[in-house]
Amino acid sequence: MPEIVKVAKGLENVVVDKTAIATTSSAGDLLYRGYKAIDLAEKKSFEDTAFLIVNGKLPTDGEASRFASSIQENMQIDPSVREIMKINRESDVMRNIRSMISLYPYREKDTRKLFLKMDSIIPQLSSDTMKAFKGEPFQDSSVKGYSAKFYSLITGGKTMDHAASFQKLMILYMEHEFNASTFALRVAASTLADPVSAVCAALATLKGPLHGGANSEVLEYLGSINSREEARKYVDEKVQKSEKIMGFGHRVYKKRDPRAQFVKGELKKIAPDYPLFQAAEAVEDYLWEKKNLPANVDLYAAILMKYLGIEESFYLPVFAASRIYGWNAHYFEQVENNKIIRPAAEYIGPENLTL
Ligand code: ACO
Repeated sequence: MPEIVKVAKGLENVVVDKTAIATTSSAGDLLYRGYKAIDLAEKKSFEDTAFLIVNGKLPTDGEASRFASSIQENMQIDPSVREIMKINRESDVMRNIRSMISLYPYREKDTRKLFLKMDSIIPQLSSDTMKAFKGEPFQDSSVKGYSAKFYSLITGGKTMDHAASFQKLMILYMEHEFNASTFALRVAASTLADPVSAVCAALATLKGPLHGGANSEVLEYLGSINSREEARKYVDEKVQKSEKIMGFGHRVYKKRDPRAQFVKGELKKIAPDYPLFQAAEAVEDYLWEKKNLPANVDLYAAILMKYLGIEESFYLPVFAASRIYGWNAHYFEQVENNKIIRPAAEYIGPENLTL
Protein backbone atom coordinates (compact mmCIF):
# COMPACT_ATOMS: atom_id res chain seq x y z
CA MET A 1 0.00 0.00 0.00
CA PRO A 2 1.29 3.53 -0.77
CA GLU A 3 1.92 5.90 2.16
CA ILE A 4 -1.32 7.57 3.34
CA VAL A 5 -1.38 11.34 4.03
CA LYS A 6 -4.35 12.71 5.99
CA VAL A 7 -5.41 16.28 5.17
CA ALA A 8 -7.94 18.73 6.63
CA LYS A 9 -11.64 18.19 5.94
CA GLY A 10 -12.82 20.32 3.02
CA LEU A 11 -9.15 20.46 1.95
CA GLU A 12 -8.88 23.61 4.07
CA ASN A 13 -5.43 25.20 3.64
CA VAL A 14 -4.24 22.18 1.62
CA VAL A 15 -2.22 23.03 -1.49
CA VAL A 16 -3.13 20.43 -4.12
CA ASP A 17 -1.38 21.79 -7.23
CA LYS A 18 0.33 24.80 -8.78
CA THR A 19 -1.37 27.57 -10.74
CA ALA A 20 -0.13 30.66 -12.58
CA ILE A 21 -3.62 32.11 -13.05
CA ALA A 22 -4.58 33.77 -9.78
CA THR A 23 -3.70 33.99 -6.11
CA THR A 24 -4.21 36.07 -3.00
CA SER A 25 -1.00 37.89 -2.12
CA SER A 26 0.45 38.05 1.39
CA ALA A 27 -0.98 41.60 1.55
CA GLY A 28 -4.47 40.18 0.97
CA ASP A 29 -4.90 41.34 -2.63
CA LEU A 30 -6.50 39.13 -5.25
CA LEU A 31 -4.07 38.91 -8.19
CA TYR A 32 -4.97 37.90 -11.74
CA ARG A 33 -1.79 36.80 -13.55
CA GLY A 34 0.14 39.09 -11.17
CA TYR A 35 -2.06 42.21 -11.49
CA LYS A 36 -4.38 43.34 -8.71
CA ALA A 37 -7.94 42.41 -9.68
CA ILE A 38 -9.23 45.72 -8.31
CA ASP A 39 -6.79 47.67 -10.53
CA LEU A 40 -7.97 45.72 -13.56
CA ALA A 41 -11.59 46.42 -12.56
CA GLU A 42 -10.83 50.13 -12.36
CA LYS A 43 -8.74 50.47 -15.51
CA LYS A 44 -9.43 47.63 -17.96
CA SER A 45 -12.38 46.30 -19.92
CA PHE A 46 -13.97 42.94 -19.24
CA GLU A 47 -12.58 41.62 -22.53
CA ASP A 48 -9.01 42.76 -21.84
CA THR A 49 -9.12 41.16 -18.41
CA ALA A 50 -10.61 37.95 -19.84
CA PHE A 51 -7.83 37.88 -22.45
CA LEU A 52 -5.28 38.24 -19.65
CA ILE A 53 -6.82 35.40 -17.64
CA VAL A 54 -7.12 33.05 -20.63
CA ASN A 55 -3.84 33.89 -22.39
CA GLY A 56 -1.60 34.90 -19.51
CA LYS A 57 -0.78 38.40 -20.76
CA LEU A 58 -2.57 41.65 -21.49
CA PRO A 59 -3.53 41.97 -25.17
CA THR A 60 -1.95 44.28 -27.72
CA ASP A 61 -4.42 46.66 -29.39
CA GLY A 62 -4.85 44.24 -32.31
CA GLU A 63 -5.32 41.22 -30.05
CA ALA A 64 -7.80 43.15 -27.91
CA SER A 65 -10.03 44.09 -30.82
CA ARG A 66 -9.87 40.60 -32.38
CA PHE A 67 -10.73 38.98 -29.03
CA ALA A 68 -13.61 41.41 -28.36
CA SER A 69 -15.01 40.85 -31.89
CA SER A 70 -14.76 37.12 -31.49
CA ILE A 71 -16.72 37.23 -28.20
CA GLN A 72 -19.30 39.53 -29.79
CA GLU A 73 -19.84 37.14 -32.71
CA ASN A 74 -20.02 34.12 -30.41
CA MET A 75 -22.65 35.68 -28.13
CA GLN A 76 -25.46 34.66 -30.47
CA ILE A 77 -27.50 31.55 -29.74
CA ASP A 78 -28.20 28.79 -32.21
CA PRO A 79 -31.93 28.95 -33.19
CA SER A 80 -32.42 25.26 -32.34
CA VAL A 81 -31.49 25.99 -28.72
CA ARG A 82 -34.05 28.77 -28.58
CA GLU A 83 -36.71 26.31 -29.79
CA ILE A 84 -35.83 23.93 -26.96
CA MET A 85 -36.04 26.77 -24.44
CA LYS A 86 -39.52 27.64 -25.70
CA ILE A 87 -40.62 24.06 -25.01
CA ASN A 88 -38.79 23.83 -21.66
CA ARG A 89 -40.03 27.11 -20.15
CA GLU A 90 -37.62 26.69 -17.24
CA SER A 91 -37.78 29.46 -14.62
CA ASP A 92 -34.50 28.65 -12.86
CA VAL A 93 -32.02 30.53 -15.05
CA MET A 94 -28.93 28.83 -13.70
CA ARG A 95 -30.43 25.38 -14.11
CA ASN A 96 -31.31 26.19 -17.71
CA ILE A 97 -27.83 27.52 -18.43
CA ARG A 98 -26.36 24.26 -17.16
CA SER A 99 -28.74 22.27 -19.39
CA MET A 100 -28.28 24.43 -22.51
CA ILE A 101 -24.48 24.56 -22.19
CA SER A 102 -24.63 20.78 -22.12
CA LEU A 103 -26.86 20.21 -25.15
CA TYR A 104 -25.67 23.15 -27.29
CA PRO A 105 -24.81 22.05 -30.85
CA TYR A 106 -21.21 23.31 -30.86
CA ARG A 107 -19.69 23.29 -34.30
CA GLU A 108 -16.09 23.87 -33.21
CA LYS A 109 -13.67 20.97 -33.02
CA ASP A 110 -10.78 23.09 -31.76
CA THR A 111 -11.07 23.00 -27.94
CA ARG A 112 -9.91 26.61 -27.45
CA LYS A 113 -12.48 27.92 -29.93
CA LEU A 114 -15.13 25.68 -28.42
CA PHE A 115 -14.33 27.15 -25.02
CA LEU A 116 -14.65 30.67 -26.38
CA LYS A 117 -18.13 29.80 -27.68
CA MET A 118 -19.16 28.57 -24.21
CA ASP A 119 -17.53 31.66 -22.68
CA SER A 120 -19.71 33.93 -24.78
CA ILE A 121 -23.25 32.53 -24.66
CA ILE A 122 -24.29 32.82 -21.01
CA PRO A 123 -25.63 36.41 -21.30
CA GLN A 124 -28.00 35.57 -24.15
CA LEU A 125 -28.93 32.21 -22.59
CA SER A 126 -29.85 34.04 -19.37
CA SER A 127 -32.07 36.55 -21.13
CA ASP A 128 -33.63 33.90 -23.37
CA THR A 129 -34.45 31.65 -20.40
CA MET A 130 -36.58 34.33 -18.75
CA LYS A 131 -38.23 35.35 -22.02
CA ALA A 132 -39.12 31.73 -22.82
CA PHE A 133 -40.43 31.19 -19.28
CA LYS A 134 -42.65 34.27 -19.52
CA GLY A 135 -43.78 33.35 -23.03
CA GLU A 136 -42.38 36.63 -24.40
CA PRO A 137 -40.39 37.12 -27.63
CA PHE A 138 -36.64 36.69 -27.32
CA GLN A 139 -34.78 39.92 -26.94
CA ASP A 140 -31.61 40.83 -28.81
CA SER A 141 -29.39 43.78 -28.08
CA SER A 142 -27.24 45.81 -30.42
CA VAL A 143 -25.13 47.06 -27.50
CA LYS A 144 -21.44 46.27 -27.98
CA GLY A 145 -19.20 44.76 -25.31
CA TYR A 146 -19.73 41.58 -23.30
CA SER A 147 -20.76 43.06 -19.95
CA ALA A 148 -22.61 46.06 -21.42
CA LYS A 149 -24.65 43.81 -23.68
CA PHE A 150 -25.42 41.50 -20.75
CA TYR A 151 -26.47 44.49 -18.64
CA SER A 152 -28.73 45.74 -21.42
CA LEU A 153 -30.28 42.29 -21.95
CA ILE A 154 -31.14 41.70 -18.30
CA THR A 155 -32.39 45.19 -17.55
CA GLY A 156 -34.45 45.41 -20.73
CA GLY A 157 -32.08 48.06 -22.09
CA LYS A 158 -33.92 50.78 -20.11
CA THR A 159 -30.75 52.35 -18.85
CA MET A 160 -27.02 52.01 -19.34
CA ASP A 161 -26.28 54.51 -16.53
CA HIS A 162 -24.25 52.15 -14.44
CA ALA A 163 -22.83 49.82 -17.10
CA ALA A 164 -19.32 50.72 -15.89
CA SER A 165 -20.10 49.56 -12.33
CA PHE A 166 -21.58 46.34 -13.67
CA GLN A 167 -18.43 45.70 -15.73
CA LYS A 168 -16.26 46.21 -12.63
CA LEU A 169 -18.31 43.66 -10.71
CA MET A 170 -18.02 41.15 -13.55
CA ILE A 171 -14.25 41.60 -13.63
CA LEU A 172 -14.04 40.90 -9.90
CA TYR A 173 -16.08 37.71 -10.29
CA MET A 174 -13.82 36.37 -13.05
CA GLU A 175 -11.29 34.23 -11.24
CA HIS A 176 -10.28 32.96 -7.83
CA GLU A 177 -7.75 30.08 -8.04
CA PHE A 178 -8.97 26.76 -6.57
CA ASN A 179 -12.47 27.75 -5.47
CA ALA A 180 -15.04 24.94 -5.36
CA SER A 181 -16.40 25.29 -8.92
CA THR A 182 -12.95 25.65 -10.46
CA PHE A 183 -11.71 22.66 -8.53
CA ALA A 184 -14.71 20.64 -9.75
CA LEU A 185 -13.83 21.67 -13.30
CA ARG A 186 -10.22 20.61 -12.75
CA VAL A 187 -11.30 17.22 -11.38
CA ALA A 188 -13.37 16.68 -14.53
CA ALA A 189 -10.54 17.97 -16.76
CA SER A 190 -8.07 15.67 -15.01
CA THR A 191 -10.00 12.67 -16.35
CA LEU A 192 -9.50 14.23 -19.81
CA ALA A 193 -13.24 14.87 -20.07
CA ASP A 194 -14.14 17.30 -22.86
CA PRO A 195 -14.47 21.04 -22.08
CA VAL A 196 -18.29 20.99 -22.14
CA SER A 197 -18.44 18.23 -19.53
CA ALA A 198 -15.90 20.03 -17.37
CA VAL A 199 -17.86 23.30 -17.53
CA CYS A 200 -21.07 21.45 -16.59
CA ALA A 201 -19.30 20.17 -13.46
CA ALA A 202 -18.26 23.73 -12.63
CA LEU A 203 -21.73 25.19 -13.25
CA ALA A 204 -23.30 22.53 -11.03
CA THR A 205 -20.85 23.30 -8.24
CA LEU A 206 -21.21 27.07 -8.51
CA LYS A 207 -24.96 26.76 -7.95
CA GLY A 208 -24.76 25.85 -4.25
CA PRO A 209 -25.61 28.53 -1.65
CA LEU A 210 -22.22 28.18 0.07
CA HIS A 211 -20.56 29.26 -3.21
CA GLY A 212 -22.15 31.26 -6.05
CA GLY A 213 -25.72 30.76 -4.89
CA ALA A 214 -25.09 33.03 -1.89
CA ASN A 215 -25.56 36.23 -3.87
CA SER A 216 -29.24 35.64 -4.53
CA GLU A 217 -29.92 34.74 -0.87
CA VAL A 218 -28.45 37.93 0.58
CA LEU A 219 -31.44 40.14 -0.18
CA GLU A 220 -33.85 37.81 1.60
CA TYR A 221 -32.75 39.03 5.01
CA LEU A 222 -31.36 42.48 4.23
CA GLY A 223 -34.77 43.69 3.08
CA SER A 224 -36.18 43.19 6.58
CA ILE A 225 -33.44 45.15 8.38
CA ASN A 226 -34.27 48.83 8.83
CA SER A 227 -31.98 49.93 11.64
CA ARG A 228 -28.74 49.09 13.44
CA GLU A 229 -30.81 47.56 16.27
CA GLU A 230 -32.58 45.23 13.83
CA ALA A 231 -29.21 44.27 12.33
CA ARG A 232 -27.87 43.34 15.78
CA LYS A 233 -31.01 41.35 16.59
CA TYR A 234 -30.77 39.44 13.30
CA VAL A 235 -27.09 38.60 13.78
CA ASP A 236 -27.60 37.60 17.43
CA GLU A 237 -30.39 35.21 16.50
CA LYS A 238 -28.45 33.59 13.63
CA VAL A 239 -25.30 33.19 15.69
CA GLN A 240 -27.26 31.77 18.61
CA LYS A 241 -28.82 29.16 16.29
CA SER A 242 -25.38 28.51 14.66
CA GLU A 243 -26.80 29.42 11.26
CA LYS A 244 -24.78 30.92 8.43
CA ILE A 245 -25.42 34.50 7.31
CA MET A 246 -25.14 34.66 3.54
CA GLY A 247 -22.56 37.07 2.14
CA PHE A 248 -20.18 36.61 5.08
CA GLY A 249 -17.14 34.43 5.71
CA HIS A 250 -14.66 33.06 3.22
CA ARG A 251 -12.21 30.18 3.02
CA VAL A 252 -9.35 32.49 1.98
CA TYR A 253 -10.26 35.95 3.32
CA LYS A 254 -10.43 35.84 7.09
CA LYS A 255 -10.07 39.61 7.62
CA ARG A 256 -11.06 41.40 4.42
CA ASP A 257 -12.29 40.35 0.97
CA PRO A 258 -10.79 43.01 -1.33
CA ARG A 259 -13.57 42.48 -3.86
CA ALA A 260 -16.26 43.12 -1.24
CA GLN A 261 -14.58 46.33 -0.16
CA PHE A 262 -14.16 47.49 -3.76
CA VAL A 263 -17.84 46.90 -4.60
CA LYS A 264 -18.81 48.56 -1.32
CA GLY A 265 -16.78 51.62 -2.39
CA GLU A 266 -18.57 51.61 -5.73
CA LEU A 267 -21.95 51.58 -3.97
CA LYS A 268 -20.83 54.37 -1.66
CA LYS A 269 -20.20 56.47 -4.76
CA ILE A 270 -23.42 55.75 -6.61
CA ALA A 271 -25.96 54.84 -3.91
CA PRO A 272 -24.80 55.90 -0.42
CA ASP A 273 -28.37 56.29 0.89
CA TYR A 274 -29.72 53.04 -0.57
CA PRO A 275 -31.48 51.29 2.37
CA LEU A 276 -30.11 47.83 1.50
CA PHE A 277 -26.59 49.25 1.50
CA GLN A 278 -27.09 50.76 4.94
CA ALA A 279 -28.55 47.49 6.25
CA ALA A 280 -25.55 45.58 4.88
CA GLU A 281 -23.09 47.96 6.53
CA ALA A 282 -24.89 47.58 9.85
CA VAL A 283 -24.75 43.76 9.64
CA GLU A 284 -21.12 43.90 8.51
CA ASP A 285 -20.05 46.12 11.42
CA TYR A 286 -21.81 44.03 14.03
CA LEU A 287 -20.74 40.64 12.64
CA TRP A 288 -17.14 41.84 12.67
CA GLU A 289 -17.50 43.09 16.24
CA LYS A 290 -19.18 39.89 17.37
CA LYS A 291 -17.40 37.12 15.40
CA ASN A 292 -14.58 38.77 13.40
CA LEU A 293 -16.30 37.60 10.22
CA PRO A 294 -15.77 39.78 7.13
CA ALA A 295 -18.23 40.42 4.33
CA ASN A 296 -17.51 38.52 1.12
CA VAL A 297 -18.01 39.82 -2.41
CA ASP A 298 -21.52 38.37 -2.68
CA LEU A 299 -22.90 40.70 0.00
CA TYR A 300 -22.24 43.92 -1.89
CA ALA A 301 -22.57 42.31 -5.33
CA ALA A 302 -26.20 41.45 -4.56
CA ILE A 303 -26.93 45.00 -3.43
CA LEU A 304 -25.23 46.50 -6.45
CA MET A 305 -27.19 44.28 -8.82
CA LYS A 306 -30.45 45.11 -7.04
CA TYR A 307 -29.64 48.82 -7.31
CA LEU A 308 -28.91 48.38 -11.01
CA GLY A 309 -32.40 46.95 -11.52
CA ILE A 310 -31.32 43.35 -12.14
CA GLU A 311 -33.78 40.57 -11.18
CA GLU A 312 -32.48 38.16 -8.56
CA SER A 313 -32.77 35.16 -10.89
CA PHE A 314 -29.87 36.64 -12.88
CA TYR A 315 -27.42 37.14 -9.99
CA LEU A 316 -25.86 33.70 -10.20
CA PRO A 317 -25.77 33.73 -14.02
CA VAL A 318 -23.82 37.01 -13.82
CA PHE A 319 -21.25 35.24 -11.64
CA ALA A 320 -21.15 32.25 -14.05
CA ALA A 321 -20.86 34.45 -17.15
CA SER A 322 -17.75 35.95 -15.65
CA ARG A 323 -16.15 32.96 -13.89
CA ILE A 324 -16.31 30.86 -17.06
CA TYR A 325 -13.23 32.74 -18.32
CA GLY A 326 -11.36 31.55 -15.21
CA TRP A 327 -12.60 28.01 -15.85
CA ASN A 328 -11.33 28.30 -19.40
CA ALA A 329 -7.80 29.08 -18.18
CA HIS A 330 -7.90 26.35 -15.53
CA TYR A 331 -9.09 23.70 -17.99
CA PHE A 332 -6.02 24.13 -20.15
CA GLU A 333 -3.64 24.57 -17.21
CA GLN A 334 -4.91 21.21 -15.89
CA VAL A 335 -4.82 19.19 -19.11
CA GLU A 336 -1.45 20.57 -20.19
CA ASN A 337 0.24 19.30 -17.04
CA ASN A 338 -2.14 16.57 -16.02
CA LYS A 339 -2.40 13.98 -13.31
CA ILE A 340 -5.80 12.52 -12.55
CA ILE A 341 -7.23 13.97 -9.32
CA ARG A 342 -8.21 10.95 -7.32
CA PRO A 343 -7.84 11.26 -3.54
CA ALA A 344 -8.37 8.48 -1.04
CA ALA A 345 -10.85 8.13 1.82
CA GLU A 346 -10.53 6.84 5.34
CA TYR A 347 -12.95 3.93 5.46
CA ILE A 348 -15.18 3.91 8.54
CA GLY A 349 -17.70 1.26 7.45
CA PRO A 350 -17.88 -2.39 8.45
CA GLU A 351 -15.56 -5.13 7.15
CA ASN A 352 -15.70 -8.89 7.02
CA LEU A 353 -19.50 -9.15 6.83
CA THR A 354 -20.69 -12.52 5.61
CA LEU A 355 -23.79 -13.42 3.61
N1 ACO B 1 -22.31 33.24 9.09
C1 ACO B 1 -22.10 32.89 10.38
N2 ACO B 1 -21.01 32.23 10.79
C2 ACO B 1 -20.10 31.91 9.86
C3 ACO B 1 -20.27 32.24 8.50
C4 ACO B 1 -21.42 32.94 8.14
N3 ACO B 1 -21.63 33.29 6.87
N4 ACO B 1 -19.20 31.81 7.80
C5 ACO B 1 -18.40 31.21 8.68
N5 ACO B 1 -18.94 31.28 9.92
C6 ACO B 1 -18.35 30.77 11.14
C7 ACO B 1 -18.53 29.25 11.22
O1 ACO B 1 -19.73 28.90 11.85
C8 ACO B 1 -17.31 28.86 12.02
O2 ACO B 1 -17.56 29.23 13.35
P1 ACO B 1 -17.03 28.33 14.57
O3 ACO B 1 -15.55 28.30 14.41
O4 ACO B 1 -17.51 29.06 15.77
O5 ACO B 1 -17.65 26.98 14.36
C9 ACO B 1 -16.24 29.80 11.51
O6 ACO B 1 -16.94 30.98 11.08
C10 ACO B 1 -15.42 29.24 10.35
O7 ACO B 1 -16.34 28.95 9.29
P2 ACO B 1 -16.27 27.74 8.29
O8 ACO B 1 -17.62 27.43 7.80
O9 ACO B 1 -15.49 26.61 8.92
O10 ACO B 1 -15.40 28.36 7.13
P3 ACO B 1 -15.17 27.69 5.72
O11 ACO B 1 -13.91 28.25 5.21
O12 ACO B 1 -15.28 26.21 5.83
O13 ACO B 1 -16.42 28.19 4.86
C11 ACO B 1 -17.83 29.61 3.61
C12 ACO B 1 -16.39 29.31 4.05
C13 ACO B 1 -18.46 28.34 3.02
C14 ACO B 1 -17.81 30.70 2.56
C15 ACO B 1 -18.63 30.06 4.83
O14 ACO B 1 -18.05 31.23 5.37
C16 ACO B 1 -20.10 30.29 4.51
O15 ACO B 1 -20.88 29.33 4.51
N6 ACO B 1 -20.51 31.57 4.21
C17 ACO B 1 -21.89 31.84 3.84
C18 ACO B 1 -22.13 31.53 2.37
C19 ACO B 1 -21.50 32.56 1.43
O16 ACO B 1 -21.63 33.76 1.63
N7 ACO B 1 -20.83 32.05 0.40
C20 ACO B 1 -20.17 32.88 -0.60
C21 ACO B 1 -18.68 32.67 -0.53
S1 ACO B 1 -17.84 33.82 -1.58
C22 ACO B 1 -18.00 33.21 -3.15
O17 ACO B 1 -18.31 32.07 -3.40
C23 ACO B 1 -17.75 34.21 -4.23
